[in-house]
Amino acid sequence: LNKIKYGLIGASGKMGKEIISLMNENENELVFKYDIDGESFSEKPEVLIDFSLPAVLGKTIEYALKFKSPLIIGTTGFNEAQLKQIRKLSEKIPVVQSYNFSVGMQMLIQSAVLLKEKLTDWDIEISEIHHRFKKDKPSGTAIMIKNALGREVNISSLRLGNVVGEHSVSFGGLGETLTITHSALSRRTFAEGVLRAVKFIVDKEKGFYTIKDVLDKEQ
Ligand SMILES: NC(=O)c1ccc[n+]([C@@H]2O[C@H](COP(=O)([O-])OP(=O)(O)OC[C@H]3O[C@@H](n4cnc5c(N)ncnc54)[C@H](O)[C@@H]3O)[C@@H](O)[C@H]2O)c1
Repeated sequence: LNKIKYGLIGASGKMGKEIISLMNENENELVFKYDIDGESFSEKPEVLIDFSLPAVLGKTIEYALKFKSPLIIGTTGFNEAQLKQIRKLSEKIPVVQSYNFSVGMQMLIQSAVLLKEKLTDWDIEISEIHHRFKKDKPSGTAIMIKNALGREVNISSLRLGNVVGEHSVSFGGLGETLTITHSALSRRTFAEGVLRAVKFIVDKEKGFYTIKDVLDKEQ
C-alpha cells in the first residue's frame, strides 16, 4: 500500500502520540493536526483520525466534511445525541467508530456473548480498571461490552495509577464463578487497530463501520 496522508485530532494526547509513532514507522505522513493549541495544515488528509474528547466532536465533523475524508474515531464518552451525529455523518463519508481498537477486546466480547447464552441463570458483572487521568467513567469499552450482552449489567470502575486498560466480565452461578479478562498492556495495541482501520477505510464510500468490520474483512 502507498503511504497515506492522514490528519489527527487530539495529536498531542497519549493516544495521539502513539498513533504518530506507529504511522511514522509505516511511512505514513501527518499532513494535518489539531489540538488545544490550534491546527497545523500542510495538505488535505486522505484519512482523518480523532482521539480527543467528546467536546471536540463538532470540530471533528466540520473538518471531516471540509476535507471530505474518511473518519476513524476512537474518542469515548459520547452521549446518545453525539452518537447519532456520528451515524448521520456516515451517510456522507465513511466512518469507523469504536470504543476499543484492540483485537483481543473483540475476542472477549464474542466469548462473553457465548457464555451468556450458555449460563442462562448466572449473574453477570463487568469491571474495568484504568489510569487516573481517564476522563470518562465507566469506560466506553465497558459500555460496548454491556451493549453486546444486551441486558442490564452492573459496571464497576477503578481508577488506579497508570493502568492502560483492563476489562473483566464475571459470571456467577451457585457454587462457582467464571471470569474472563482482557488487558491492554500498552496503547500501541490500539494504534495498531487504528492503522488497520486506516487501510480498511481509505478507499471506502460512505457508511458506518466498527473495528469488527475491519477485522472481519481481514480474515
Ligand atoms: N477507542 C480506543 O481504542 C481508545 C483507546 C484509548 C483511549 N481512547 C479514548 O481516546 C481519547 C483520548 O485518550 P488519551 O488517553 O489520548 O487522552 P489525552 O487526554 O492524553 O488526549 C486527549 C487530547 O485531546 C486534546 N483536546 C482536549 N480538548 C480539546 C479541545 N477542546 N480542542 C482540541 N483538542 C482538545 C487534548 O489537548 C489532548 O492532547 C479518550 O476519549 C479515550 O477514552 C480510546
